[in-house]
Amino acid sequence: MSPVFLSRLIFDFMAAGLLLFGLSYWWLGNIAHELAGCAMFLLVIAHNIFNRRWYGAIPKARREARGRLNMAVTVLLLAAMLVLLVTSVLISQALSGIMSAYGGFTARQIHALAAYWVLVIVSIHLGLRWPMIMGVARKLIGIAQPNILRTRALRVIAVLVAVHGVWSSFVLAVGTKLSMRTTLDWWNFEESVAGFFVHCVAVAGLYMFLTYHAMTWIHDGKRKNIDNSAHRVQSNG
Ligand code: HEM
Repeated sequence: MSPVFLSRLIFDFMAAGLLLFGLSYWWLGNIAHELAGCAMFLLVIAHNIFNRRWYGAIPKARREARGRLNMAVTVLLLAAMLVLLVTSVLISQALSGIMSAYGGFTARQIHALAAYWVLVIVSIHLGLRWPMIMGVARKLIGIAQPNILRTRALRVIAVLVAVHGVWSSFVLAVGTKLSMRTTLDWWNFEESVAGFFVHCVAVAGLYMFLTYHAMTWIHDGKRKNIDNSAHRVQSNG
């Protein structure tokens, strides 16, 4: 694994961390939020420069299920990130001297809406790359051989995270936030800071879990079809 690729992954996870930090607006307030947001957008721009070849390869890409889903998710992520960026500029307090005429309640609502959609879409984006991320983790820890006990333990942990994610979605009222309905369910950071981040990570974990298993299911279904056709050809021949 090249050091450049590893640094890219570290930047990716820093961007994800900053996204979660951005969701905690009421914890440290506006200045911290705007600075974290700027850093996240810079990392996301760098991320897209690193991945520029992927865009060039779109016309030649094979149109299998994973490839099509990956493309749709990337387009949605791009759209959600652009909405987040534009509304950030419109409602920024640092830029209020120049932009105040455009920022208002609706722009703030759209900003929060886009932020929660970005959380869900980035999680799907990561779920699509989960086998690669696990591969990197295995290399870093130095795991070479499969181990059934370890695999089972990790599966149990993944299921627990997903179940926690369902509960966290209710606690954080994620459904309400994704549908732009007005909510007074804002997290009380005076009660707990870590709790908020645990719930956000669990929600992200839930969407990664669902994406990873949906991909495995599609892949296994396709392999079964190929095996069945090979079997039919053999028995006919
Ligand atoms: C917090 C935000 C994000 C995180 C954590 C994230 C994470 C990742 C990871 C781990 C990879 C694979 C490793 C790599 O190439 O760096 C990746 C690939 C990629 N990402 Fe992101 N990403 C984020 C935002 C975005 C955004 C906003 C876009 C643009 C729409 C984007 C487009 C891509 C593309 C085009 C690839 C290559 C796809 C492929 O090779 O299949 N990412 N991302």
